[in-house]
Amino acid sequence: MQIIKTTDYQELSSIAAQMVASQIRGKPNSVLGLATGSTPLGLYSQLTDMHREAGLDFSQVVTFNLDEYYPIAPSDPASYSCYMEKNFFQHVNVQRSRCHLPNGAAADVQQACRDYEEEIDRAGGIDLQILGIGANGHIGFNEPSERLQIATHLVPLTEATRMANSRFFASLDAVPRQAISVGMAAIFRARQILLLASGESKGEAVRETVSGVITTRIPATLLQVHPNATLIFDAATISF
Ligand code: PGA
Repeated sequence: MQIIKTTDYQELSSIAAQMVASQIRGKPNSVLGLATGSTPLGLYSQLTDMHREAGLDFSQVVTFNLDEYYPIAPSDPASYSCYMEKNFFQHVNVQRSRCHLPNGAAADVQQACRDYEEEIDRAGGIDLQILGIGANGHIGFNEPSERLQIATHLVPLTEATRMANSRFFASLDAVPRQAISVGMAAIFRARQILLLASGESKGEAVRETVSGVITTRIPATLLQVHPNATLIFDAATISF
C-alpha cells in the first residue's frame, strides 16, 4: 500500500483530485467507484473546480456508488442519491444515465443487489475506487464481522455507524437500520483504490490499516494485500 501523509484536509483533497483527474484524462470513459460521507467532500469540490476551470470532462465517465441506505427514497435529503446530486453530479457534466447507486427503494432488495453487481460487471469493473474509512474500519458498509460478503448485499448497520451518521438525520431513530453495500469483490477487483482518511477519529483505524493484522474485524486491513491501493491521510489523523 502506498501511503501519502498530507499537512491538512485541503492538501489531501487536492492530491486525491489530481489522481482522479489523471485517471479520467488517461481514460475518458473510466469507471469510478464513488464514496459518500464527509471525507470525499473536498475531493468532489476540487473536481468541480477542475471541471469549471480546466474543462475536466466527465461526459463519458461511468460511476458506481459504494452504498445506499435501505429503505430510503432517492428523494430523501439524507439519501446518498441526494448527496451525490448535491455535492457532485449537478456541478459537473456527468451523464445521469451513467451514474449508478444501489436502489434504496427497491421492492425486491435481493434482486436489486444482484442487478447492481451485474451492472458493475457489465461495465467491466471499477477502474478507480474511492473509499472512506469508518472509525470501526468499515469500507463501504462492509462492517466489522466474522465474515465479509463477496457480492453486493443488504447489511445491518452497526450502532456505531448509525450513531456516526445520525448527524445527517433528524434523530438517531430516523437513521435506517440497514444499507445496501457493494461487497469485497467489487472493491478488490478495482484496478486502483484510493482510501481517504481525515481527522483524529480515524486514527486507530488508519494505524490498523497500515500495520495491523489483516482481519475481517477491521475490513480496511484487507487493503494491505491489494496490488494498487493508496492511503491518503492528513496530519490530524495520526502522527506517524
Ligand atoms: P465519513 O465516513 O467520511 O463521513 O467520516 C466515512 C465512512 O464511514 O466510510
